[in-house]
Amino acid sequence: MPVIGRLLIVGLGLIGGSLALAVRQRKLAVEVLGSSRSQTTLDAAMRLGVVDRVVTDLPAELKTLQENDLVLISVPTLTVPAILKVLQAHLPKGVTFTDAASVKGSVVDGVRDIFDYLPPEFVPGHPIAGSEKSGVAAASADLYEHHQVIVTPLAETGAEHLARVVTLWTEVGASVHEMAVQEHDEVLAATSHIPHLLAYSLVDTLAGLEENREIFRYAAGGFRDFTRIAASDPTMWHDITLANSAAMLTVLDKFSDKLAGLREAIINKDSDHLLGVYTRAREARNHFQKMQEQKAYLEPMNGSTVNYLVQPGGQLSGELRVPGDKSISHRAIMLGSLTDGVVEVSGFLEGEDSLATLQAFRDMGVVIEGPDRGRVVVHGVGLHGLNPPPGPLYLGNSGTSMRLLTGLLAGQQFNSVLIGDESLSGRPMLRVAEPLSQMGAKITTAKGGTPPLEITGGQSLKAIDYTLPVASAQVKSCVMLAGLYAQGETRVVEPAPTRDHTERMLSGFDYPVKTEGRTISITPGGSLSANSIDVPADISSAAFFLVAASITPGSDILLRHVGVNPTRIGVINILRLMGADIELLNEGFTGGEPVADLRVRSAVLTGIHIPEDQVPLAIDEFPVLFIAAACAGGTTVLTGAEELRVKESDRIEAMADGLDILGVSAKATPDGMIIEGHSVETGTGHDGDREISKMGGGEIDSHGDHRIAMAFTIAGLRAQKPILIRNCSNVATSFPGFVELANSLGLRVTVANR
Ligand code: S3P
Repeated sequence: MPVIGRLLIVGLGLIGGSLALAVRQRKLAVEVLGSSRSQTTLDAAMRLGVVDRVVTDLPAELKTLQENDLVLISVPTLTVPAILKVLQAHLPKGVTFTDAASVKGSVVDGVRDIFDYLPPEFVPGHPIAGSEKSGVAAASADLYEHHQVIVTPLAETGAEHLARVVTLWTEVGASVHEMAVQEHDEVLAATSHIPHLLAYSLVDTLAGLEENREIFRYAAGGFRDFTRIAASDPTMWHDITLANSAAMLTVLDKFSDKLAGLREAIINKDSDHLLGVYTRAREARNHFQKMQEQKAYLEPMNGSTVNYLVQPGGQLSGELRVPGDKSISHRAIMLGSLTDGVVEVSGFLEGEDSLATLQAFRDMGVVIEGPDRGRVVVHGVGLHGLNPPPGPLYLGNSGTSMRLLTGLLAGQQFNSVLIGDESLSGRPMLRVAEPLSQMGAKITTAKGGTPPLEITGGQSLKAIDYTLPVASAQVKSCVMLAGLYAQGETRVVEPAPTRDHTERMLSGFDYPVKTEGRTISITPGGSLSANSIDVPADISSAAFFLVAASITPGSDILLRHVGVNPTRIGVINILRLMGADIELLNEGFTGGEPVADLRVRSAVLTGIHIPEDQVPLAIDEFPVLFIAAACAGGTTVLTGAEELRVKESDRIEAMADGLDILGVSAKATPDGMIIEGHSVETGTGHDGDREISKMGGGEIDSHGDHRIAMAFTIAGLRAQKPILIRNCSNVATSFPGFVELANSLGLRVTVANR
């Protein structure tokens, strides 16, 4: 169905010709006309069926156009003014005209000069679909599918004209974005115009070398990839370069400085400089690719479409190692960056949260190699070697990154801003801002004490004695990190023991930390020496399978090399109190952290009142512990756990709601939950002969919380019907590969991207 009357395309190259073909094939215009200075092009356009009719007398044809018609100017940028003059003289008022030039400022200036004003009919546009191919013979009807078109409407542009242009591009498959003229030209200078200039320049340089024959003969890989665009149309790029000279010079100057820096680095054999540029660039490149594919990293920010479908039943067997500990991975990057040497990390968790920390330190100038299958090499810059980040530090979903970094950044000489995704942006930050302010830090939060956090550097911090109002390892660690930069001895008193990875790792880097009972003290003035770190498997990830094997008759699994730090084993203690059969084998130490293999066999669980002293030691494991409680005989009561309400979601409500859908009686209380064990089990033993009752099935919202999503996946083992869990992409924050590992042990989960 036509969406416009006649389409007249002036200039039948790749861009104009492809639009003509696309519009003809889709019958979007009553008639498609083409004009060109070259008779050969016109002949080819007819022969290839690109247009319905060619135009040889442009002024005469323009005069016949009417309101529903549209003119596209797709000639080289510096030829645009000549065409505009013809339009100004002959195009009737009310007829929409647009262009396809890569530079918008010069075209808009041209229109203003030639028309003496900016006509409402003019819609500046730029389809980003060019390639090194050119000419009408390269035209393709699907060139614009899944490509972007930028329009830069002006205040004077008429809404109906803009709508007509947007509709046409959309109908040929493009997605249309609006931008300001200047922004367009700056962005395109950086992303398109300078890369072309560099490609031309490199090929020209190599072609001028004596040994050029040899070079070109062996030119493969890098040369070919880098210089593909040097095969583009020289006139077109000559025009673009002159038309966008100001924006291009700005980028070129920055690039020249960078190049000079690399030259120096080569002369001085400055590996840190080279690796810094290369690793940052590789990350940035991957990041752009993901952005373009609209995948990963950005998904959690955009609200997610990943759902899990869990088939009921299954049995677990086998052995595996779950990914690295999240808390230790964060600290390996943070503290590793503050050492005076090179820290080799193995077992690093390649999850979104720890990667957010890694990126933040790269943004502050730390050279970090990897991650490559859990291996990361951090080139420490010392306690005073961080650089100001170029912009806000984006920390995704990660509360640990934000709270620990706030303490560290409060002691720096530069300002910083910390931001996060929707969930993190709603989480309480006064718990760190307040003690830091008492130390003399300058931090502002958004209304309600949430991110973004703005930290003004250059303050002189003084030590405090701080009693934590809540048992929180994040707050403890935050204050300790600020203590590295404060005058005097900083003391933190915990109401109950919390994970002590910061203390252990600082000691491992030979930085003195004193722990006396519940008081941890640290003084400034020391330095961190580099030592390697082996990150154990995360007990918080293992927890899902500890529960899974416990609640599923006939199961027997081995989880290897799990961190069993006493401040983290609440989940084992609680499950054992409920009757679970968990054995610790091959106990040992790695980098100051205790580890063991965990053998878990199914058992008959019984409801308990969970001892409150275990709450901080199992703080992240309650979602899956609630599933264990739902499968236990009798009532399980949790108290003293109000912290669960301010995790990645309100985990008390989220779990109560989900359990209710599965037919389990779960009553949320202000500080915990009362769960009536759903199953009455008969018989005992590990043999799979027990009769067990089951939960129902249904559709559950994880609220974008990784641990809620994984907990309900485990529930599928004792469900009667399938469970559909919505909003699961954040599982990647802490447990990449969860679905594959779960299936390899005997669960039946599929990922449905909707
Ligand atoms: C963490 C501490 C805990 C925990 C979080 C990781 C850490 O948070 O829930 O997942 O690495 O220090 P709180 O300190 O807020 O309890």
